[in-house]
Amino acid sequence: MELSQERLARVLNGRAFQYFAVLDSTNDQAQAWLREGAPNGALVIADEQRKGRGRKGRVWHTPPGVALAISFILRPPQTALHQVSMLGALAVSDLLTEIGARDVGVKWPNDVQLGGRKVCGILPEVIWNGDHLLGVVLGIGVNVRVDFSGTELERVAISIEHALSKTFDRADLVARLVARFDHWTVLLGSDAMFKVWKSRLNMLGKSVIVEQEGVRLTGTAEDVDADGGLHLRRPDGALERVLAGDVLPL
Ligand code: BTN
Repeated sequence: MELSQERLARVLNGRAFQYFAVLDSTNDQAQAWLREGAPNGALVIADEQRKGRGRKGRVWHTPPGVALAISFILRPPQTALHQVSMLGALAVSDLLTEIGARDVGVKWPNDVQLGGRKVCGILPEVIWNGDHLLGVVLGIGVNVRVDFSGTELERVAISIEHALSKTFDRADLVARLVARFDHWTVLLGSDAMFKVWKSRLNMLGKSVIVEQEGVRLTGTAEDVDADGGLHLRRPDGALERVLAGDVLPL
């Protein structure tokens, strides 16, 4: 088992972090730490999550020994809030490219894919105290050696080690991810960051279905804006701006 307090302390070079062998959700723990005054950039890492959360109240499974479950604590300016999840997608896609992956893409809004299959999910949670912004918890779940064969996710999900036919040290992956996260944090809210995120989206210009709270919209994914909104050209020519949802190829 290559994740441990000692290993992480060695590779994270004095950065504030908390490691747990088992946790309900790193996002819950990070929220609690954020309220207690965690420094900007602090991390919560777990080997296993018992109640991992995905977007839209979905369950996110993190069995022991096979994944990364990390929550970054950020205190961004309010004007940059909508770009925090872009930051996660950029850091993870950089990490994948750095370790030799090809066909890395971002599926709007922020799933990271390898060969069109989901390798990473991102869950940003904004924490307020009344109308005062306390910060953001950016939860990142990466499949390192999760075995999806024979499951309902087999066709849509993938793990790094299966895609690259190679084993990886998860503590090393954490250290690389943190380095890429720090790189993009400096650029948070900038046009430069938005442009790179946009260039990595893998469905712009394509015909798609957007599922949003039970409603299915079809159209062409024409553009995205700096707030992360998707501009969907409907078959009748109207332009619809979508802020959240799941995109599927048509
Ligand atoms: C999604 O694609 O639905 C988002 C998945 C986010 C999962 C990560 S794992 C670390 C962090 N803790 C959680 O409970 N969820 C996020």
